[in-house]
Amino acid sequence: MAEKTTLSVIKADVGSVAGHQVVHPRLIETARASLKEAVSLGVIEDFYVTHAGDDLQLIMTHRRGVDNPKIHETAWLTFQKCTEVAKELHLYAAGQDLLVDAFAGNVRGLGPGSAEVEMVERPAEPVAIFMMDKTEPGAFNLPIFRMFGDPFCSAGLVIDIAMHAGFRFEVWDIESHQRIFLNCPEEMYDLLMFIGSKGRYVIKRVYARSGKVPKDEAVACMSTDKLSQIAGKYVGKDDPVAIVRAQSGLPAMGEILEAWAWPFLVSGWNRGSHNGPVMVVGQSANRTSRFDGPPRCLGLGFQLADATLVGPVDLFEDPAFEPARREAAELADYMRRHGPFEPHRLPMDEMEYTTMPELMEKHKGKWESVR
Ligand code: F6R
Ligand code: MG
Ligand code: MG
Repeated sequence: MAEKTTLSVIKADVGSVAGHQVVHPRLIETARASLKEAVSLGVIEDFYVTHAGDDLQLIMTHRRGVDNPKIHETAWLTFQKCTEVAKELHLYAAGQDLLVDAFAGNVRGLGPGSAEVEMVERPAEPVAIFMMDKTEPGAFNLPIFRMFGDPFCSAGLVIDIAMHAGFRFEVWDIESHQRIFLNCPEEMYDLLMFIGSKGRYVIKRVYARSGKVPKDEAVACMSTDKLSQIAGKYVGKDDPVAIVRAQSGLPAMGEILEAWAWPFLVSGWNRGSHNGPVMVVGQSANRTSRFDGPPRCLGLGFQLADATLVGPVDLFEDPAFEPARREAAELADYMRRHGPFEPHRLPMDEMEYTTMPELMEKHKGKWESVR
């Protein structure tokens, strides 16, 4: 049987320049050196280091499967080395996403976010990696649904016999820590009822039903780590990542990108407490600015070749996405005009920052009954 390849994307915010804006080049260099060493030690096969705004992104290929302690340890140690540099440079929020001092075998629950897929590589294996900044894991629900469930986005669902069989969605309830599997198209309305509540129900993986890839092999995987729940208090955004496999009975790369052609609204943005549009960006505009946003998404495309990464292609660096960016800027303007009012500001229980307990205390005893 063919040797399997695992693609792991593990990310963390371990410090950035000029506030929560952008990863410093020295952190990228440090991470590269660390992963180069991991290649020479035979831990990983190949890697690509980049950033999405203030999040350092480690894209790694290896033969060790998902949730492998050695891989997660490599990522953790890399983030630690970068934290040292971040502290030396007095970068903002140095070490922010490393929530514990001691590593315990898996980065899940310790701060960093991860998305991993183990696969038998197809003869040609195109993948897209999406990395968002200033938003939360559920931000992927809408575009992932559109890629794998919406024929108005992915024409192949109607006209490619392999895609016509539909896809199976694994949805996690990130509050009660349960999961459910729902088949599309027949359970589409049930699926949408859950994933529309994107702060709670998050698409974790998607599987093909056609048999074009093994039925237990994910064709898409998202990070679902929610920092505020892990830490019990606000410690930064849950800026998520996703891996999506393309072509030959899966959505074409163009259908995968089609899902980003208009700027849908997500929660996050300034202080993790506001709704705003996602702006898709190429590497040149890959940092947040206005009101610490608007939330961004960077997309990189690769071919896998026996566990090496061939690429990347800067997926959104294209004039075809200019209208989406312009619309996102206009929507950002519109949303901002609401200032502290919902639905721009998030409902109270979803805000990452709140002064409410202090205000309640300050005004205690001043509330009068109106019954
Ligand atoms: C953090 C973020 C920012 C911060 C904001 C305030 O990922 O997106 O919007 O929440 O800049 O940051 P502090 O509280 O660190 O000054
Ligand atoms: Mg930050
Ligand atoms: Mg971030």
